[in-house]
Amino acid sequence: MHFKRCCFGVRKSSQQDLAELSSEKDIKLFSYNALRSATDNFHQSNKIGRGGFGTVYKGILKDGTPIAAKVLSAESKQGIKEFLNEINAIANVKHPNLVLLLGCCVQGVNRILVYEYVENSSLDQALIGTNSERARLHWGIRSEICIGTAKGLAYLHEDIEPHIIHRDIKASNILLTENFLPKIGDFGLAKLFPDNVTHISTRVAGTTGYLAPEYAMQGQLTRKADIYSFGVLVLEIISGKSCSKSYLSEDGKVLLERTWELYEEGKLTELVDPSLEDYPEEEVLRYIKVALFCTQAVAGRRPSMPEVLHMLSKPIKLNEKELLPPGIIQDPTTLSKGLEGSRTFVSTSASSIPELSSTTLDTFTEMAPR
Ligand SMILES: Nc1ncnc2c1ncn2[C@@H]1O[C@H](COP(=O)(O)OP(=O)(O)OP(=O)(O)O)[C@@H](O)[C@H]1O
Ligand SMILES: [Mg+2]
Repeated sequence: MHFKRCCFGVRKSSQQDLAELSSEKDIKLFSYNALRSATDNFHQSNKIGRGGFGTVYKGILKDGTPIAAKVLSAESKQGIKEFLNEINAIANVKHPNLVLLLGCCVQGVNRILVYEYVENSSLDQALIGTNSERARLHWGIRSEICIGTAKGLAYLHEDIEPHIIHRDIKASNILLTENFLPKIGDFGLAKLFPDNVTHISTRVAGTTGYLAPEYAMQGQLTRKADIYSFGVLVLEIISGKSCSKSYLSEDGKVLLERTWELYEEGKLTELVDPSLEDYPEEEVLRYIKVALFCTQAVAGRRPSMPEVLHMLSKPIKLNEKELLPPGIIQDPTTLSKGLEGSRTFVSTSASSIPELSSTTLDTFTEMAPR
């Protein structure tokens, strides 16, 4: 155990310091041992995934609570205090559509985040199933996933202070409950790695299809970057196709490009997942058009999350005259260069980030006559 000298010359353990800090900040601290026994010594069979930030293990705490323990892979140069400060911003965020952070473990070099366990894996898993598996995701479920995700994101963007920009909205970060309710995971996590360029570049390279052009190319990060990713996600939910390269259509076009083409040809129903047998056509088409508004090339033309929520949940007529082609990154090879130069914009506080423009709801919608 490490000891250090406190102000009166009395030795005090760093674990004691930690306990004081955590009670100040209302963060539950887990011991490494507790998590080791919960995950059967981080056994391979409990591994449920691996992402850019680290490996995720399923575990059961002594009191029977199931958890997902995310063992952060990047070697943290951050001090414990800074680490807890960052976590503090996300630890006290509670919303039905956000994965709850139960606490963390900071012992030695170990940095582990402990989340509530969400039973039904992530949306990417649900969408890559066979046709009959995907058919379980009927329209009612898919629209609830879109709306629930929009609610969670609107909460992060508008309702909490400081606002949080997720920066990595994608299907694998949308977890599904037993009843297929969506919960956004990993929000605020990027902030824990402000100095780790390689890490961020790797993640970005893996999720190219979701990146707003101004963010990917010039490093301009605003809430509108999340809104762009949300638009891509909606298209994936409706089409049952991933935006990633491996799912390029036969002619080599990415999902968003293909969607715009079908929109211009008046054939948007061709985008809909064939395993969705019975669906309300008008509503589904509205969702696709909302996704096109979200992915507009100019960030200022994208709606805010509350506006998106309004457009998705009400049978309104969208003002399609305002719709321009979506922003698509044509040459992903330019990405990493752009991103390496853009490290300084890493921030989760929207108050320190310029909004590109504010647009009113009227621009996007007209109320449908009853
Ligand atoms: N709280 C959780 N409950 C249940 N499963 C989870 C939880 N968190 C993560 N997972 C599972 O672990 C997988 C890996 O998650 P992780 O966040 O590490 O990677 P990722 O989402 O693919 O990439 P990224 O690092 O960009 O978030 C997820 O796809 C999901 O299936
Ligand atoms: Mg994730």
